[in-house]
Formats: sequence, C-alpha cells, structure tokens
Amino acid sequence: MDDVLMHEHDVVVIGAGGAGLRAAIEASAAGVSVAMICKSMLGKAHTVMAEGGAAAALANKDHRDSWQTHFRDTMKGGKYLGDWRMAQIHAQQSPDRIRELEQWGAVFDRTPKGLTSQRNFGGHTYPRLAHIGDATGLELIRTLQQKGVHMGMDVFMEFTVRRLFKTDGRISGCFAYDRNDGTLHVFKAKTVVLATGGITRCWEVCSGSWEYTGEGHAIAYWAGAEMGDMEFVQFHPTGMIWPPSVKGILVTEGVRGEGGVLRNSEGDRFMFDYVPEMYADEFADTEEEALAWVDEVISGQLATKRRPPELLTRDVVAKAINSERGAGRASEHGGAYLDISWRDEDEVKKKLPGMYHQFKELAAVDITEQPMEVGPTAHYVMGGVKVDPYTQETSVPGLFAAGEVATGLHGANRLGGNSLSDLIVFGRIAGEQAAEASKQMGYFAGIDQVEIDEVVAETLAPLDREGGENPAKVVSDLREMMQDKAGIIRTRNLLLESLSDLDELEKRANITSPGGTRTYNPGWHQALELAAMIDVSRMCALAALRREESRGAHTRDDFPDTDHSHWGKVNSVISMGDDGSMEIAYSSYPEIPEELKSLLDTEDLHEEGS
Ligand code: FUM
Repeated sequence: MDDVLMHEHDVVVIGAGGAGLRAAIEASAAGVSVAMICKSMLGKAHTVMAEGGAAAALANKDHRDSWQTHFRDTMKGGKYLGDWRMAQIHAQQSPDRIRELEQWGAVFDRTPKGLTSQRNFGGHTYPRLAHIGDATGLELIRTLQQKGVHMGMDVFMEFTVRRLFKTDGRISGCFAYDRNDGTLHVFKAKTVVLATGGITRCWEVCSGSWEYTGEGHAIAYWAGAEMGDMEFVQFHPTGMIWPPSVKGILVTEGVRGEGGVLRNSEGDRFMFDYVPEMYADEFADTEEEALAWVDEVISGQLATKRRPPELLTRDVVAKAINSERGAGRASEHGGAYLDISWRDEDEVKKKLPGMYHQFKELAAVDITEQPMEVGPTAHYVMGGVKVDPYTQETSVPGLFAAGEVATGLHGANRLGGNSLSDLIVFGRIAGEQAAEASKQMGYFAGIDQVEIDEVVAETLAPLDREGGENPAKVVSDLREMMQDKAGIIRTRNLLLESLSDLDELEKRANITSPGGTRTYNPGWHQALELAAMIDVSRMCALAALRREESRGAHTRDDFPDTDHSHWGKVNSVISMGDDGSMEIAYSSYPEIPEELKSLLDTEDLHEEGS
C-alpha cells in the first residue's frame, strides 16, 4: 500500500473561505491545535464573490433598522422555509461580527460621519450592507487570513479531502490528497468543521470557480449526515453574459443597490411588472416613485417611499429576466440591460470600481456610459448539511458545519449580503463548539486501516485505467445537463430525465481515464471530483422532483403556485439508506414562538385568521 502521511490535530477545519477561517480563528483562540485544509491557495475562496457587502443591522444609514427587521426580511426572503432560530441568531449577532472585523483591520467604506457605510440590497428594508466598494468578500478574507495566520494554526494548501472517517459512530478524521504532488494524507481529529462552500460548478453557467464541485456536501452525506433543502439553488440575476468566455462571472447586486436599473430590448423597466403580491406594499410601481426613492437615498435622506423593483429578492429578479427572454424581449445576447450610467461617473467609479474595470477589461464596455448585459448565473445553494442552530453540530457526532455547506438560515432563497454575515456568525459558533467538543473528547480515536486502504485504492484507481473517456468531457456533459434540466425552471419530466442522465453519467465517470501521473494532474482531480458532483446533483434533482410547488429559488412550471398548507411547512431531508441508496424524507423546524412570529408579515403565512 502506498505511503500515507499521518497528522494529528484536535480540530480539523476543511475549507478556508470566510466560515472556515472564522471557525479556525475561534478554535485556535480556545487553545486547541487546529489544521486548516484548503482545496485551493489560502485566500482564494468563493467568499470573494459576495462583492456588494455583509448584511448587519448596524443602523448607521437608517436609524430605523434593527435585528428584528433583519430577522423579518431574512424569513420573508427565504419564503418562510428557513430555521427561525438561525435567523434570529444571525440577525442579533452580525453587527458584533462586523465590528470585530473592523477591530481586526477590515477597511470598510465610511459615511460622512465616519461610521461604517451601508448600502441597499435586494429584500433588505433598509440600507444594511456594510461594504468595501464592490470587493467586500475579498477584504473579509484578507482580514480573517491575516488574523488567522498569527493564531498558530497549520495550513494545508491545495489539498482535497475525499472522505471523513468515523470511529464508533463519531467523527475521527479525514483523508486528503495533495493536488500538487499526489501525496496521500490522513488527518486524525477529535472534531471536524466542514466549511467547504457550495456546489454551483454542477451548472454550466455559474459564478463559482473550479473549486466549487460539492465535495463538502458529498463527504458529509457519505459519512451519514442529513442533508436539508437541496432543491434550493440560487440563480443570481446578474452574471455577465457576453463575451462567451466570461459568461457567469458575477455582476454585483451592489449595482442595483446604487441605483442600477434593468431594461429589456424594448427599453422598458420590466421589473415593475413582476412585483409579487407579498411585496406589493414595499415596492414602487411607477418610475417616478422609484426615482424619488433613489433621489432621497443619494441625498442621504431617509427614504420613506417604496423601493425600486430592481431591489426585489434574487429569485424574483432572476425569473423576471428569464421570462422577458421567453417573451422575446431579451438583450442582444439573451439577457437584460443593467444601466448605472445615469449616475455621476465619479460616483460609479468610487462605489463600483471592480465592476468598472471588469466590464472595461473583459467586455470593452464603459459602464459609466453604456448599459451592461446580464443574465442569471448559479451562485449559491441554500441546501446543505443540517446543523443544530446553537452549536452547528451535524447529525454525525463530532462533525460541525458552517457557511454555505450548512443549511437552515436562508430557507428557499438567500438575501444578498446574508452570506458574508452567515459565515462570520456561524463560523465563529462552529469553531467555538468544535474546540469545546474536542476538549471533552480528550483523545484521538483510532481509524480503521481497512477504511484507509479502501479510500487510497479509490483515489489512485483512475490513474490505472486505460481507454476510457477524458473526465473533462463527463464534467462538461453533467454541467450542461443540470443547466437544462434542473435549472431555473423545472418540470417533472425534465427532473426525471436528469435523474436517469445522472445514472448514465455515473457509469461513464467510473471508467474515465485521465492518464498521466499523480503530479500536477488536473485530469486526475476531475476524475475524482465527479463522484461528488454526481451525488450532489442527484440530491438537488431528487428534492426538486418531490417538491410539487414553486417557492423561492425552486420553480416548477407544472406546479407554478406556492402551497402554503403543506410544502410551506416542511423541509426535505436527504440521507443515505442502509443499502447505500439516496433516501428522502421531510421534517419541520420547531414552532416559532409568538414574540418572533409577531415580527413577521403574518398575512404571508396564510394561516387561518391571519
Ligand atoms: O451581488 C453580490 O455582491 C453578491 C453578494 C452575495 O451573494 O451575498
């Protein structure tokens, strides 16, 4: 058997985005030994794709904001499918996490009075997103990384984790390989924190880069963890669509937060036609009213009027762009026009420097003078590993999860900006609790050698195969298939087809031949990633097939209505059956207490008497 290098750490954190870094900082501060394993280079994480800001009710721009309103907006934006306990913790704790980041050196933009500046974003009642131009996620990572590397943790860069080990039903470590030289590693751990982000590379058009292939979700599932709400995948309404080489790259919602308007090929601001009834009181239905609101915001007054409909939640805006395309009113390359050029040139360059350069360099478009062309891009998965809201522990003892890989906070649709605050609020809790649990555990459990041998053999197998397909072809067929059959608009037939296509793709994946050796071999990495991509895609397609309604990011053409009586009360739970098959069941969060329920728009709940 090949040599396997052994490591021992009290807490192993898998993933080095915002949640992983924040967890590792907290665990290190508790005095335990910490390993942080990153699939990519430290600092390169999807966190940077949350450009426009981190949501926290600091009330710096509008004194009316409060955690209660943030809680209400999050529950409403998630179409009431989220865990109210996580929404409460998140709304209450995110202001402190932002202030802490400032103490650690994050350079947030400022209001004229010197407070942390906040901007408007979709679904947030007040300007709530603390930001650094349009590079907030990048600054968050930079700050956490700088803090983290001084805490004494061991960092393993460019390692992919392929399996979690359990001993007597409890987590005992993980297996990883080094992507550079192909060396094999076992990490013994008393507890593990999963912070691996999302799965959106399973769709052809996405905002994520190559790392986002869903291993975190898959290894948790393979280890027996319960997976919740996997049908809900968010398509951010504004990704670049032209030229083809940049398709999917994010265009921050901050553009709309700063007054950007959406128009169709006929020049109409079509979003006025798509305001859902549940938001009718809050959003403008004329251009004049929307403009008056923008004027007030720009002049620093408190906006009392209804917000422009471009600031509706992402699920609504993405579907509207899709519908305009269906109606033959798409922009030249099949999306919509997003225009910020009516605002002062210097303001655009100051507030959105990244977007200015991105369009100038990648699309030869000057956004201070011309509209951008945008369309939906797979950006985020609301579904993930089910966690205890107070500890972030999963259904596997000793395994904790935080950030995008975990589920609960966002329900059927995440509000923009709630991701960065999610990472730092729940990353901190996961790190603290994992450290505490590791101290209670007290010893490193042994790992079964048979299991180690098995995963080593699986990992090396593709290198011995000959005559099979190139794994890159299977990956690209999978992504194309998921885009077509489990994308923004779904039907029973398409989802059934997607499940049978996944079976075929799995057969092909099992016999791919990447060729080459263990050193610097991206073909080998892709051959290994396919098992995770197939299983997470399957979870999404299966849960989407079963949910016979439309809600948030899940739209069924054959079930266009939202079903308040049944589906609005249950969350899907996927787990592995004893025979290895994927099983789906349903569960509900505990009843929301009256004092929190009274913060919600009770008419949205469609309960008798409301
Ligand atoms: O549009 C954006 O800047 C993305 C933010 C987010 O996903 O939270």
